[in-house]
Amino acid sequence: MGSHTIRELLPEDYEAALALWQKTPGMGLSEADSRENIGMFLSRNPGMSFVAEAGNELIGTILCGHDGRRGIFYHLTVRHDYRKRGIGRTLVECCLVRLKAAGILKCHLFVLADNSQGMAFWESMGFQGREDIHIYSRTINQ
Ligand SMILES: CC(C)(COP(=O)(O)OP(=O)(O)OC[C@H]1O[C@@H](n2cnc3c(N)ncnc32)[C@H](O)[C@@H]1OP(=O)(O)O)[C@@H](O)C(=O)NCCC(=O)NCCS
Repeated sequence: MGSHTIRELLPEDYEAALALWQKTPGMGLSEADSRENIGMFLSRNPGMSFVAEAGNELIGTILCGHDGRRGIFYHLTVRHDYRKRGIGRTLVECCLVRLKAAGILKCHLFVLADNSQGMAFWESMGFQGREDIHIYSRTINQ
């Protein structure tokens, strides 16, 4: 297994990123993951999302953006055969640098309640699970 590089996630990474997400158990995918909607997210948040590559293969992703107030992460994943080598940590740290540069000093993310591995990762990164907040969601009909 060779070394890896980190670079910004670009719209043309969509197919490889989607393939990786589809192979990742615990990654909730929805209509928000269409090519068009991912493109919209990236154009609203340029230079904030990252990929890890090994050779020509995409082996990690993180989507990051902000709304002018708080940052948000989606779709942090590292391909199973590249885990536990600090790649997830590096992807998150790249985003934190960009958020800080944009003046954003706190960020949030969602973890499915049965993803104990994901929770252990975020805790080791200094993130705190919130017991005091419930998430409310509503679909906006067309
Ligand atoms: C979560 C995930 C991205 C971690 O990627 P990774 O590259 O293996 O993580 P790193 O090697 O950078 O680990 C960073 C820290 O998290 C800890 N960690 C990583 N995986 C862990 C696990 N399964 N259990 C406990 N701790 C873990 C490491 O010990 C490390 O801490 P340290 O630096 O203090 O030793 C990867 O396991 C993954 O893709 N999981 C499936 C998708 C997912 O659950 N995403 C997160 C939910 S949104």
